[in-house]
Amino acid sequence: MTGIITAMDLEMDTFAIETQDVKETKLCGRKFLQGKLFGKDVVLVVSGIGKVNAAVTTQMLVDNFSVKKIIHTGVAGGLAPELRPGDVVVASALVQHDFDTTEFGDPKGLVAGFCSVDMEPDQELFQSIFESCKKVIASDTEEWQVIKGRVATGDQFIASKEKSLEIRDFFDAAACEMEGAAVAQVALINQIPFVVLRAISDNASTGAKTDYRTFREKAIQRTVKILQEYLK
Ligand code: ADE
Repeated sequence: MTGIITAMDLEMDTFAIETQDVKETKLCGRKFLQGKLFGKDVVLVVSGIGKVNAAVTTQMLVDNFSVKKIIHTGVAGGLAPELRPGDVVVASALVQHDFDTTEFGDPKGLVAGFCSVDMEPDQELFQSIFESCKKVIASDTEEWQVIKGRVATGDQFIASKEKSLEIRDFFDAAACEMEGAAVAQVALINQIPFVVLRAISDNASTGAKTDYRTFREKAIQRTVKILQEYLK
């Protein structure tokens, strides 16, 4: 069973249309859809926004649906200068940019109980998703790129040059979003292989709000296509 955690309803709805033999379970206000997607056993759920929502959802997926791997998708603000809306980042590592116990001598971003700031995905899953991105690019009529890069997560929508540069420069992060590292943390605690895939909706700087609204649907279509390719 593969757990697919989408950040938004739109992705979930797109997958739900394609899913067969659907069984719906409601738990704590969350809707879990179990079924067959392109012949594979999946359970789909929307995380909701932010780290706590993502963490709770991930743990519920583990506790109630015995998932063997977790794929988390959504949109992100681009931090690497070469990224444009619609480009894709497969997270080579995730960090929590707002976790800060430096006052006690810890490195910035180090989550209590972990020995490294970076939370790394399952290498096989990471590579397969990256290969799926390459295949979709090869057959796509539109031009876009995929990169492997660090994704920085925090409970903030980043919409200023100052803040986006601060996160990019400190963590050498390619993109920022609000859930990925929380999914990663829970997956690591439970020793479940995971990967995080994000399409760029904005540049996390001035104008991010407008860009986010303009490009998020296009970005979501991209992650949906990539997951279709992966599952097929
Ligand atoms: N998700 C998409 N764009 C984002 C941004 N600029 N900041 C945080 N999360 C995002």
